[in-house]
Amino acid sequence: MNEDDTRLVDTGALLARTLYAHGLGAGHRLLDVGCGYGRLAIGLMSTGYEGRYKGFDILPLQVRWCRRHLTPADDRYRFRHLDVHNARYNATGTIEAAAVRFPARDESHDYCALFSVFTHFYADDVRRYLAEIRRVLVPGGRAVTTWFVWDDARLPAITAESSAYPMVHVLDEVTRYETESDPLKAIAYREDFVRELVRGAGLEVETLVRGRWAHDGPDPEQFQDLLVLRRPPLGTATRIRRRLGRLRRRLVRAGRG
Ligand SMILES: C[S@@+](CC[C@H](N)C(=O)[O-])C[C@H]1O[C@@H](n2cnc3c(N)ncnc32)[C@H](O)[C@@H]1O
Repeated sequence: MNEDDTRLVDTGALLARTLYAHGLGAGHRLLDVGCGYGRLAIGLMSTGYEGRYKGFDILPLQVRWCRRHLTPADDRYRFRHLDVHNARYNATGTIEAAAVRFPARDESHDYCALFSVFTHFYADDVRRYLAEIRRVLVPGGRAVTTWFVWDDARLPAITAESSAYPMVHVLDEVTRYETESDPLKAIAYREDFVRELVRGAGLEVETLVRGRWAHDGPDPEQFQDLLVLRRPPLGTATRIRRRLGRLRRRLVRAGRG
């Protein structure tokens, strides 16, 4: 997260365009998980996003900066700090990532964004965050997420010196990382393992776009691997059951009043 102001705004706009390309639009509610110092928020502001935004991060200084500089410019942009443990970013954090609860109600968001966040997570934390994504998304809602993923075919490219992050260290059969002394600097998971985690959380992979970090991505603007996840929409029977439940509760309230 070291960049000058121009690059910050340009990268923010690129992240915003990635979300628009996957359907983010006016009236949507977006949760930016691991918002850092507001790069995506700045990108959304500079490209005229007409929806609501909430970001949270585990770094207090960054969140404070966003609250001080971004919310006053547009009060639809809100930021929260959560003191979650991450060995790289917040080693003294008091909340275990594997037990975190996002600062959002059930089914309260149309989109989640996790840009360059799962690339710094161990698997148990990924599992919990995917479950939380499912909880806060409306049925049919999407999470736009980035990762480093690999499979047997990709292994030579991702371990080569020419890879942006040569994933030469092995944690277990599905996990590789670049820097021996700092595994969470850049961590990569087997693609089929990621798909299993996503399925296990009750989500589906809608799109996978390989990034150019491993030299085989089709889109020069996509550096990490992009996975768009979706909470499946409700079936007709569930929709009717929910509507009836709401109607029944309203009738009970009216009867009491
Ligand atoms: C490489 S930065 C990316 C920031 C931002 N998403 C962006 O693209 O500009 C990774 C971010 O993930 C945050 N992070 C790390 N662990 C986290 C956790 N358990 N929950 C939420 N955010 C976390 C870090 O504090 C950091 O801001």
